[in-house]
Amino acid sequence: MPSPSWSKERAEAIIEAHRRREGAALPILHALQEAFGYVPEDTVPLIAEALNLTRAEVHGIVTFYHDFRHAPPGRHVLKLCRAEACQSMGGDALAEAAQARLQAGWGETTGDGSLTLEPVYCLGLCACAPAAMLDGKPVGRLDAKRLAALVDGARR
Ligand code: FES
Repeated sequence: MPSPSWSKERAEAIIEAHRRREGAALPILHALQEAFGYVPEDTVPLIAEALNLTRAEVHGIVTFYHDFRHAPPGRHVLKLCRAEACQSMGGDALAEAAQARLQAGWGETTGDGSLTLEPVYCLGLCACAPAAMLDGKPVGRLDAKRLAALVDGARR
């Protein structure tokens, strides 16, 4: 799922649409990520000016939340659950296997740009742990074989 290139005009329109909301920073950041696939660094001063915050304050918000990407994602995004129920069902080994197979760490994209690997903290699929989400589609009861098939299928 390629993201459109970011544009200052589009970013300013998004910021303007949300700037008067209560706690506007998060809705703005989510809307920017929805539009561009990530939060471009160049939007930080635009947000700061619109909300009368410092750039450091905006940067702090962007980096505090795991959900915000700092670079465009790959064509597919695999989110592996890192919360307790999934960890207790083998999630750590799966995470290591995924990172080794993709040669990518958390928040990184494979060298061919096909897949971005991200952590997520509970998908509400604890009864089907370990769980993941590929391009927004939940997948439960993962094991090494199913994970390999999921990853390889997405990268074709
Ligand atoms: S802990 Fe992984 S889905 Fe809930």
